Amino acid sequence: PVLVVDFGAQYAQLIARRVREARIYSEVIPHSATVDEIKAKNPAALILSGGPASVYAEDAPSIDPALMDLGVPVFGICYGYQCMAAALGGEVANTGGREFGRTPLRVTETDSVLLAGQPAEQPVWMSHNDAVQRAPEGFTVTASTEGAPVAAFENLERQMAGVQYHPEVIHTPHGQQVLTHFLYDIAGLEPTWTAANIAETLIDQVREQVGENGLAICGLSGGVDSAVAAALVQRAIGDRLTCVFVDHGLLRAGEREQVQNDFVAATGARLVTVDAAETFLTELKGVSDPETKRKIIGREFIRSFEGAVSEVLGDRAASGQKVDYLVQGTLYPDVVESGGGTGTANIKSHHNVGGLPEDLEFELVEPLRLLFKDEVRAVGRELGLPEEIVGRQPFPGPGLAIRIVGSVDAERLATLRKADLIAREELSSAGLDSTIWQCPVVLLADVRSVGVQGDGRTYGHPIVLRPVSSEDAMTADWTRVPYDVLEKISTRITNEVAEVNRVVLDVTSKPPGTIEWE
Ligand code: XMP
Repeated sequence: PVLVVDFGAQYAQLIARRVREARIYSEVIPHSATVDEIKAKNPAALILSGGPASVYAEDAPSIDPALMDLGVPVFGICYGYQCMAAALGGEVANTGGREFGRTPLRVTETDSVLLAGQPAEQPVWMSHNDAVQRAPEGFTVTASTEGAPVAAFENLERQMAGVQYHPEVIHTPHGQQVLTHFLYDIAGLEPTWTAANIAETLIDQVREQVGENGLAICGLSGGVDSAVAAALVQRAIGDRLTCVFVDHGLLRAGEREQVQNDFVAATGARLVTVDAAETFLTELKGVSDPETKRKIIGREFIRSFEGAVSEVLGDRAASGQKVDYLVQGTLYPDVVESGGGTGTANIKSHHNVGGLPEDLEFELVEPLRLLFKDEVRAVGRELGLPEEIVGRQPFPGPGLAIRIVGSVDAERLATLRKADLIAREELSSAGLDSTIWQCPVVLLADVRSVGVQGDGRTYGHPIVLRPVSSEDAMTADWTRVPYDVLEKISTRITNEVAEVNRVVLDVTSKPPGTIEWE
């Protein structure tokens, strides 16, 4: 892999993503990793990330100069660039030339490989106090800014280069080109990280982990991650995987069919569906407090899942086999954020499936644990999963229950399902699926307002549209959906859904609002 050495800035993951966009596999490693640990990973190249510290600060993270002697190509970014310069005998100083944000860069060396084909003047994103004053011996200075006389350097022989600015952010328009020049032209790497290769590699790994006879189960939520994880494991071990799908009756229109028909048709996976709608509705009856709803759903989900698992186990145990593996759709950002642990110790209550039993003793199979969301989607397409599953927006485990403000019953669910389907249809046909991260549709079941329809007075419920744009659901902004699309949705919902006489738009960002209403 290309190892991104993380100096504690928020950019390391982004750099890894950009490297993978260049179709080269990349992982993040903490700067505390020793030279031996890094060597053991057999890196194709090292990228030293930016970091918050000054190279001169008391406890500033630094690099072991031995990293420069591994014979591995190195690229430094911002703080990592300064560390690299210092380790190679260059000079870094704080001369007061701090630069933050968009800064004009001048390419001073037309023969530069790193900056080949780039405009002589271009904006780049800067964030630094210190600056490299003198490049290490043997390095060519290729660009400068007002505050950074040595804003980029390279040494082709040693396959090393670096930039003071942040090529990974979108505010540096030619940044991705800088990264690809380093990866392809300086480090000499081949772009082999394609969906087909990823899928093949992951299938092999699962086969190796589960072995010739191992049995696995996987909870399907209807979401992208669990579907792709299951599809990969299915390819690897076929019928030794059983998928369990709990239909809690809180799904959107068409979702059960997507899993039961489309997913099964695309993968040939063995599927056990648990029909638990009645139980869930009974338990939720009269409950309107959001947290109580969530707790009930979590508890019932575990019960249903356990029931199904012991049935599967029972069947298999009768033939003398044991189910040892539980498949989960954990993604790379979760792994990095939880410190990059191995993840096999304990089954954490997982977001995707609404929490799993703690006392089940399985070894986890997490085939997606090194992938970003867009890669998961690409692998899903590669495996032939239908677009309705692969391109699906995030949907919360507790389902429509937390999109009904008030208590949940079959009638209210039916009302919300109709409105939600209309909103989804219209947003899709307006081509907004990739602009919108997700669009919860919320029924204010405890609110009524007066309206007029035909010649009569109505006294119905409002529907809230909550379209948001986001990178990771941690923060979000409300999406500026064109008025004519909103109009169409509003007209259709009030015409086609009898119980609804008003459609309103949620224009709150997150924070302060959360994406969901409950
Ligand atoms: P909030 O409402 O906290 O949501 O801004 C952030 C993201 O998480 C999803 N979400 C959930 N997903 N189980 C899930 O699997 C849950 O209990 C749950 N609650 C919220 C939400 O849809 C959004 O994408």
